[in-house]
Amino acid sequence: MYTSLRKRFYRRHLLSLKDVSGEEIMAIINFALELKEAKSRGETFTFCIGKTLAMIFQKPSTRTRVSFEVAMYQLGGHALYLNAVDLQLGRGETVGDTARALSRYVDGIMIRTFDQQDVEAVASGATVPVINGLTDREHPCQILADLMTIFEHKKRLAGLKLAWVGDGNNVCHSLLLACPNVGMDIHVASPPGYEPLPDIIAAARAAAKNSKVDITADAVAAVRDADVVVTDTWASMGQEGEHGRRVKIFQEYQVNSGLVGHAKPDFIFLHCLPAHRGEEVLDEIIDGPASRVWDEAENRLHTQKALLALLL
Ligand code: CP
Ligand code: NVA
Repeated sequence: MYTSLRKRFYRRHLLSLKDVSGEEIMAIINFALELKEAKSRGETFTFCIGKTLAMIFQKPSTRTRVSFEVAMYQLGGHALYLNAVDLQLGRGETVGDTARALSRYVDGIMIRTFDQQDVEAVASGATVPVINGLTDREHPCQILADLMTIFEHKKRLAGLKLAWVGDGNNVCHSLLLACPNVGMDIHVASPPGYEPLPDIIAAARAAAKNSKVDITADAVAAVRDADVVVTDTWASMGQEGEHGRRVKIFQEYQVNSGLVGHAKPDFIFLHCLPAHRGEEVLDEIIDGPASRVWDEAENRLHTQKALLALLL
């Protein structure tokens, strides 16, 4: 399986989930599941011996940084953590020139930054694969792990209803781009003015053939009969100054036992983390029986190992 998959993915970028078909998402998930099982049996697959991944961070990170670094180590390769303020980027070198230079040393570049256009500029300058490790617009690696987690617990993706409750942010955007391709219904509930971007909604609707894409202000309607309930912080990285205002606006969008009482009895709860307990989610949910957030965090490692083995 690995050889045919690799032909399909080798040297591609992962900038947005709009570029990844439902079939490809399922292939990555299935490969990641194999790698996860192999790891639990103590087997190693060193697909990246002698390879190096440069990881540029313009925002903080716990999971993305550690899971990519451990992924490269487990694959026999090496990862370099590059804080953008320590690079010449901080003194005005362009992201394109940074990518051109790094491509002469490394086999892949992962970047976490603000503007999606910067990730695209890195990809234009780079001669190695570029992976989006989160921008203000998207978080594709997170959604590969989320879909893997849903598949592990529900044994399917097609036909499930996912409810997103909260800010129409980067994580929500990547879910909107992926769910229709894997046949999942996605219902997004956000306060007016905090909905996902119109072009993302349009792309999701265009991709939805046998599934639904619904955008509403009504959190109960979104969660009703959902198989999966997902939320995220009300103020993303870069929006710290809006935190106080957002906390007031988002109160009705808190994931608590009252709200999830409308979901299916066997629903599962996901959150990309870090969580702001007492704001977008209460302890009773994130620490409760429906929560799969730690599996979700772990699956960042397995999906990214699959990605790195295929792209690099
Ligand atoms: N979910 C996620 O990307 O976490 P970090 O910000 O800790 O990397
Ligand atoms: N929406 C959050 C995700 C963090 C992983 C942010 O961008 O800060």
